[in-house]
Amino acid sequence: WPYYLAALAFGYLCGSIPFGLVLTKAAGHGDIRKIGSGNIGTTNVLRTGNKKLAAATLLGDALKGTLAVVLVNYLYGLEMALVTGLGAFLGHLFPVWLRFKGGKGVATYLGILIGVFWPMGLLFALIWVGVAFAVRYSSLSALTASLLTPLILYLGFQQVQMAELFGLLSLLLWAKHHENIGRLLTGKESKIGSKSKAPS
Ligand code: G3P
Repeated sequence: WPYYLAALAFGYLCGSIPFGLVLTKAAGHGDIRKIGSGNIGTTNVLRTGNKKLAAATLLGDALKGTLAVVLVNYLYGLEMALVTGLGAFLGHLFPVWLRFKGGKGVATYLGILIGVFWPMGLLFALIWVGVAFAVRYSSLSALTASLLTPLILYLGFQQVQMAELFGLLSLLLWAKHHENIGRLLTGKESKIGSKSKAPS
């Protein structure tokens, strides 16, 4: 188990880098936690109006997951990579540097998924884009894609271990979206590209 713990810790360290916060500050937009929904993720960085910054946040938050699991998969195999993925996700959601108040996990979820099983990563992205195109809610797109991912991994690809891991990650992602779910249910969620800020 010390190896699993090391993989978890390595993943956590990679995942805990808050790209949205760092990049937004560096670009002179101030503290992203005081803008829009207060979240440190891509959707909220987009509310600064800076699309390039949002794209860089998406890339950073996804790649930290991808690189961590690809490296560990290469060196120690898939099982250790999955543990690393769990660590990276926990690091993004609960970074020690931000007093454990991190992001909602969508980009990092996708990055980890691409790193361990890219066809499902592609499907996740397609589902996200499809739902976003239809309803224009970032949160609903992520909730739908993360609900379907473990089911497709299990039923479609017969990847039991991966289905278990991503089932757990999806549970955490849904829990982190509880405010978004409340806003979706009451019709108060802000749409992608809308000028109105999401209420925090
Ligand atoms: O990725 C997070 C997204 O699903 C919702 O973000 O800022 O609208 O709470 P936000």
